[in-house]
Amino acid sequence: MRISVIGCGYLGAVHAACMAKLGHEVVGIDVDERKIAELSAARAPFFEPGLEALLDEVQLTGRLSFTTDMAAAAGSDVHFICVGTPQKKGENRADMTYVNAATHDLLPHLAPGNIVVGKSTVPVGTASRLAGLVTEQEPTAHLVWNPEFLREGHAVADTLSPDRFVYGVADGSEDHPAVAVLDEVYAGSLAGGTPRLVTDHPTAELVKAAANSFLATKISFINSMAEVCEAAGADVTRLADAIGMDDRIGRKFLNAGIGFGGGCLPKDIRAFMARAGELGADQALTFLREVDAINMRRRSRVVELTRELCGGMLLGQRITVLGAAFKPESDDVRDSPALSIAAQLQLQGAVVTVTDPKALANAAKRFPELQYVADLDQAVANADAVLLLTEWQQYRDLDPYEVAEMVGSLRILDGRNVLDAAKWRAAGWTYRGLGRP
Ligand code: UGA
Repeated sequence: MRISVIGCGYLGAVHAACMAKLGHEVVGIDVDERKIAELSAARAPFFEPGLEALLDEVQLTGRLSFTTDMAAAAGSDVHFICVGTPQKKGENRADMTYVNAATHDLLPHLAPGNIVVGKSTVPVGTASRLAGLVTEQEPTAHLVWNPEFLREGHAVADTLSPDRFVYGVADGSEDHPAVAVLDEVYAGSLAGGTPRLVTDHPTAELVKAAANSFLATKISFINSMAEVCEAAGADVTRLADAIGMDDRIGRKFLNAGIGFGGGCLPKDIRAFMARAGELGADQALTFLREVDAINMRRRSRVVELTRELCGGMLLGQRITVLGAAFKPESDDVRDSPALSIAAQLQLQGAVVTVTDPKALANAAKRFPELQYVADLDQAVANADAVLLLTEWQQYRDLDPYEVAEMVGSLRILDGRNVLDAAKWRAAGWTYRGLGRP
């Protein structure tokens, strides 16, 4: 099939490459010339494991091209909208500027029978509104809401074989003509056994909001347990292991630490609360305010713990932060708890050095006032305290004896509870985890 993908960020670039991998002829469209130039040269404009290899592979087939010209969408049977919906400045709501602009610019290029597929995370009600614009322009075209559930760091695999597909169509019916078209688009993945559900527009939009809210709630739940564990002298990691063995609960997403960040969970729960308020259902989601508050409290807690670790004063303390990305295997620093903690420590007088295998360039753009050192050994040299805040494998694998040779004082705060506390203590370190004795 001929497919256009509008928006080539973390979602769209991966989607475009994966659709070409599935055998389609794909054009990726974005207003950012730099991004398009890089993608056209088969270079990923951001770090995502496997993406560059996939771009290389599919570009050799000639099935994938990139452009800044929206007119290139003409001739495609299916148009995916993959642009961002960041948090609106000064508000909790989602900023719909990019989705609205992408749809508006696409409309003149629609042909009879085309399918427009929204993948961006949007406030419920958006799909029906955009569907109206699509059919006004082209009465035989259809709009489907097909939320995306990929995780950064696993985006290629999550796109090629997701847990499920959700197709939100106007009448919510399996017989809707767009269902067969999307089945053809995803034929390769469906043949691999990925289940798919057909729903109406608002249900499809809500599936995404509900999924991210549940994940955020799970993380904040375990972080609230970490607070209680700290007060009671208990160990939240063992608690999570034990409750996670109940398969109704499950162990995944129960890692206590510095909390969730990134371009999705924080802004999605806020946008969801704001939208529920507009719909008169705000009471239903008041718990998400607490989820958000527990999450933000983690960051201040780490600042306080670091102060304790440094003998009660941050002023002039040399602190090395391991990790700037919001999670490992990504260079994304949007709402990164690690960077936010680093910045707060610096504001309180500490001398902060940040290192990260992939995210330093993005981090430096966001917080130019921090010092960034790419080399790990140089970064930890003479540190008064080391903070592990993003659990990259190389930080998990650190040898406490080797690091001890480089730092100024043997103090480590494990913000992700991934180090072996006994091993670090045996090597002479003062070890602090979160929610652990
Ligand atoms: C999240 C969802 O997991 C995806 O399903 C969704 O498609 C995506 O948002 C989106 O809306 O586009 P992502 O933001 O890539 O994906 O990252 P997650 O893997 O969900 O991690 C989010 C944050 O939670 C990270 O900061 C991570 O460190 C933190 N986390 C995760 C914890 O603190 N504890 C855990 O146990 C798990």
